[in-house]
Amino acid sequence: MAPTTPDIDAILAELTRAEKLSLVHGAVDPEGTATGYLPGVERVGVPPFRMVDGPLGVRAEGKRATAFPASLATAATFDPGLAREQAAAMAREATAHGQHSLLAPGVNIIRVPHCGRNFEYLSEDPVLAADISRSLVEGIQSEDVVATVKHFVANNQETHRTTVSADVDERTLRELYLPPFRAAVEAGVGSVMTAYNRVNGTHMSDHERLVGDVLKDEWGFGGYVVSDWYGLETTVGAANAGLDVEMPGIPVEPDEGEFEWPDGIPDATHAGLFGEPLGAAIDDGSVPPERLDDMARRVLGQMARIGLFNDAERSGELDSERHRDVAERVAARGTVLLDNDGVLPLADDADVALVGPHVYEPKLGGGGSSETTPIHAVSPVDGFEARADGSVTVARGVEEIESVSLFDLLPFVEGGREDTESPGPDTDPSLDAAVDAAAEAEVAVVLVRDATTEARDRDSLSLPGRQDELVEAVAAANDRTVVVLRTGGPVETPWRDDVAAVVEQWYPGQADGDALASVLYGDRDPAGRLPVTFAPEETYPTTDERRFPGVDDVARYDEGVFVGYRHFDSADADPTYSFGHGHSYAAFEYGDPRIDDGTVSIRVENVGERPGREVVQAYVRPPEDAPVDRPVRELGGFASVPLSPGESRTVTLTLDELAFSRYDSASGWTVDSGTYTVEIGRSAADIRGTVGVER
Ligand code: BGC
Repeated sequence: MAPTTPDIDAILAELTRAEKLSLVHGAVDPEGTATGYLPGVERVGVPPFRMVDGPLGVRAEGKRATAFPASLATAATFDPGLAREQAAAMAREATAHGQHSLLAPGVNIIRVPHCGRNFEYLSEDPVLAADISRSLVEGIQSEDVVATVKHFVANNQETHRTTVSADVDERTLRELYLPPFRAAVEAGVGSVMTAYNRVNGTHMSDHERLVGDVLKDEWGFGGYVVSDWYGLETTVGAANAGLDVEMPGIPVEPDEGEFEWPDGIPDATHAGLFGEPLGAAIDDGSVPPERLDDMARRVLGQMARIGLFNDAERSGELDSERHRDVAERVAARGTVLLDNDGVLPLADDADVALVGPHVYEPKLGGGGSSETTPIHAVSPVDGFEARADGSVTVARGVEEIESVSLFDLLPFVEGGREDTESPGPDTDPSLDAAVDAAAEAEVAVVLVRDATTEARDRDSLSLPGRQDELVEAVAAANDRTVVVLRTGGPVETPWRDDVAAVVEQWYPGQADGDALASVLYGDRDPAGRLPVTFAPEETYPTTDERRFPGVDDVARYDEGVFVGYRHFDSADADPTYSFGHGHSYAAFEYGDPRIDDGTVSIRVENVGERPGREVVQAYVRPPEDAPVDRPVRELGGFASVPLSPGESRTVTLTLDELAFSRYDSASGWTVDSGTYTVEIGRSAADIRGTVGVER
């Protein structure tokens, strides 16, 4: 059937005002599966439109779908192509559930290591975050689903997220916080979700300068801007600032009368502002009528772009072999080998003690709107038992870590993940039993986790419960102890010198046990690299309460661009594990880098005995006499390259002008003239070669 390209202006001309209003605020989904629903206008052939969470896979109400690894794990692959594959699979699953827009990707910069949503985000670095953001958008939209990049902008903490103002200067916004959004816009993203917070005092849904001027006018964003759920505060301010769609548009009245909304949860009685009140604001002249046409046109434009006006049946794909496969490949490829004294990879026939409070349970994700319920999931115990040729003894060791979820805070809202725990033995965990199992095994593998959720920040970077004690006790009993972290961001690892290997698996999703076994037994190289710096808690710039969580609802971003490794480099502080760090089972040697204009090339050879994957990273150091304080080095480009033993390749990385630029609030993007040093390395702290270039 030939695709129908609708005449949107003709449709708009047909619509009554009430019909136009129905296209710009949410309503109740008769099927009850969507996170946000627009009813469409049947009279003129505008179909209903469904939006669904989220970044880790589809969370359609009451439905199951592939539980993909957390976005942070995806970013840890440093592989935009793989991110694109994951995103396309998520989009096909959205279509299978009758949805048209995915409320993903989440691309906020990881500024605060404690942030409860870091697992949904990508990196502390804007270049990595922008590259992954772009490919996630491309992947989603390649399958005719509208991507929704979120949360625009400076939503970097959950504490007081609905009231706090991020007090941030223009240079810092431009250099750090805006690039992943700009990349999404350049990739043609159909929708941008505004954040709950304020920026420099103005609520983001009312932010005319950032939404109207920067996003729409300067960047030319042609899609629709949607509010975060119950994140709209005003009618007139938001409409005139450039917000296009209010979600979910329907108020929720708590049954228990006076309900105190917990911190981090927006007041859901406040909704419908783009319904009748918008009509009234147009009548009294405070919002121009053309604005409503523009809002509706933007929504219709995205419906048309994904082919919704075609009569053709939309066919998606759910839980297919290739979706399971990409979920597993990303989980494995995002796994970071932080330390290894040679204990890994494990011998096929090693006798293993598998220890940890949650070894019977796959670590699917964190809490909140990204919670997906899989159809199929592999726990660590299942994954190990399937792969191991030696014996696998299992012990939980210490009490479970209580999981936390935004949904537990709202007794009247459904939407949490359904249980996926495979029943372990019905006995109390025993530290002694874990120590005995470890002592008798050749290798002890200890799995530890944090518990993070949307709407809450972590109060400490230490592992919760008695997990540090468990690691210490197992390490004392077996000097071949491997610790596997399953965390939503950096954690403290006080025992790291006492163990033989440390692995970071993030939240691996449904493929958990299979992915873990494949990396630990060496079927796959641990090709992940850190998208965030791991450092002692008190050394992060956000340790100052003025900066996080803020004082009197203002969080001062006065560390400026010195976030993540930019901070640790300039403070000359040694982090525990640097940005970009991660070992391989192979070994790589680097030649001398060359540069031709903005293209750097370098020969990389696998001098090890196993196949591996190297993530080659290029950092740019500005001229020493730069007129303003600039970071010591900034990531300019990277590439993840597979290499067989003995194989060498010339890797080329293209550094665009932005890689050399800084933002000047008077003159915009500026390249200081002078000699820049391009550093090629394995991480921000392991530079293997440098080359100078004049600008
Ligand atoms: C979150 C969004 C999410 C929305 C809909 C909000 O609480 O901040 O990321 O898409 O809910 O569930």
